[in-house]
Amino acid sequence: MSCSTEIVNGPIPKNFLSDTSKRLDSLLFKDGCLQVLDQLLLPHSFEYIDIRGVEDAFKVIKSMQVRGAPLIATVGCLGLFVELESGKDIEKDGQDFRKQVLKKIEYLISSRPTAVDLRNALNSVIPLLEKEEDLKTLAEKIKKRLLEVYEKETVENRQLVWNAYQEVVSAHPGKEKLKVMTICNTGSLATCSWGTALGAIRALHAEGRLELVYALETRPYNQGIRLTASELLHGGVPFKVITDSMAAWVMKNERIDAVLTGADNVALNGDSANKIGTYMLAVLCKHHGVPFYPVVPRTSINRSRETGDGIIIEERPSNELLQINGQFIGPEKTPVWNPAFDVTPADLITKVLTDFGNFEPKSLKAAVETLDSY
Ligand code: MRU
Repeated sequence: MSCSTEIVNGPIPKNFLSDTSKRLDSLLFKDGCLQVLDQLLLPHSFEYIDIRGVEDAFKVIKSMQVRGAPLIATVGCLGLFVELESGKDIEKDGQDFRKQVLKKIEYLISSRPTAVDLRNALNSVIPLLEKEEDLKTLAEKIKKRLLEVYEKETVENRQLVWNAYQEVVSAHPGKEKLKVMTICNTGSLATCSWGTALGAIRALHAEGRLELVYALETRPYNQGIRLTASELLHGGVPFKVITDSMAAWVMKNERIDAVLTGADNVALNGDSANKIGTYMLAVLCKHHGVPFYPVVPRTSINRSRETGDGIIIEERPSNELLQINGQFIGPEKTPVWNPAFDVTPADLITKVLTDFGNFEPKSLKAAVETLDSY
């Protein structure tokens, strides 16, 4: 492959991020029982919700009780898994079962439109539905596939974090400790493992290479101050929260070594959709000469899009902007536009850091083409 020199993969040291005791768990899945942490209650209370099937999974994803592209994919898949496991929806007639599963997949996918992980994961079940198979075998194969989504995430996330950590450290030879900036929440609360951008930041800290992380509060829904602050405090990671509008001033006055973000939907040319405000950070990075890195699992790559044009941008209800904790912070009838994501053009991206290597945007497509289908 022509871009092989850009790949940083390699053996991960055994003790790399081996201590999970200081990690907040977004999801508990044991003996076929699924529970998810209600993230809307954070930081005030720490409660898990039972997920007994597709309807429960849809509700927690739509309401953003669980959120973060890789996590919603896992919760969608495990929601379908526990429903199939209960056996209550399996009809005697094979065609009916296939139709029902397809309907449930479409329903789950409709919960949040921008993050491609959910679509990628659930769509990977569809080829199984097209095979001639007795019902019991088919149901077992579907469940196996759904479980794989969960199991593979942990393994691929570890490689992603290692690759991202190596890239950031090797871009700053001779610098012992780094100052970084991030947006939204991309940690264990957005995945079932360490996280994407925040996972790499946790690795910098664990390896003694982090001076400080500036975390944007991330209006309108405050995932930065509610969730990232909770994770970093819990993990003992040095950080400061800033408002989104402070980012330029911080970049001008503080030495920021890198900006690391997540991504919900990455086109083959590297254009990356992520939480609203990410594009602004990339523009600021260009101006201040700071490297800008989306940290992206393969599951967030959209193989059907050459560019970011046309990525569906989710619009959230106006109250998510107009209210904080149920209290209006502006006149109730204020007209609001509330897009939840923006698209950072590839030319503002230094490298896309992935579990299969780190690539300049121009090399991403060729690398993706070497991967197996999802
Ligand atoms: O609206 P959210 O909270 O689901 O948005 C989350 C993000 O934008 C993350 O950066 C993204 O999902 C990728 S990182 C795991």
